[in-house]
Amino acid sequence: MKLTFLSHACYLLETSTHTIIIDPFLTGNPKAEIGAEDVTCDYVLVTHGHSDHIADAVEIAKRNNATIVSNYEVAMYCGKQGANTHPMHIGGQHEFPFGRVKLTIAHHGAGLDTEDGFICLGNATGILIFAEGKTVYDAGDTGLFLDMKLIGEMHPIDVAILPIGDNFTMGIDDAVKAVEFLKPKVVIPTHYGTWDLIDVDPNEFSEKVSGTGSDVEIMEVSQSYTI
Ligand code: NI
Ligand code: MN
Repeated sequence: MKLTFLSHACYLLETSTHTIIIDPFLTGNPKAEIGAEDVTCDYVLVTHGHSDHIADAVEIAKRNNATIVSNYEVAMYCGKQGANTHPMHIGGQHEFPFGRVKLTIAHHGAGLDTEDGFICLGNATGILIFAEGKTVYDAGDTGLFLDMKLIGEMHPIDVAILPIGDNFTMGIDDAVKAVEFLKPKVVIPTHYGTWDLIDVDPNEFSEKVSGTGSDVEIMEVSQSYTI
């Protein structure tokens, strides 16, 4: 599989048969190198309903006739705007044509400021993707939690995508502890550097992870990694 970093927490995952975008946030994203209109995909995975994860989900899904996979509340919200959706919730898994998806807990919120006022969009989630014999864990936005140990034990992880930007999510030291809990083969730091508020040095993360047994892959925007 090919994983391409589109900036912030947005990734494109290409299997041999399907293309999946995760947390589409390109419009209004100062680091994005492509626009939402450039995305071709079959599925749109959304970890939680914050604008920096869901911004372009409906537009991309509708234009591609793709299906949005997210928690029930996000799915209903997107469905009302005319997108195809597949609602799930924490602990549940489902077999899709590209592979299996399981939602995990994430300690974080979810909500959007809309024309109709502020709406809450259920719990934030993490996403496990099991495809082509590999396991990818995207923690979404979250603080550190001990159940990461359980996630790593039950689902040996090839690639973990973990936020390190602090303020809204885990910072570097907590993310290093998360790596110790999850024991992924490879960890990709994310959700940093998009704005000054979350501008941390990924090399510091890399140095602190060395010795845990996990490799760190710091991705540049538009760079791809083969899983
Ligand atoms: Ni968030
Ligand atoms: Mn976020």
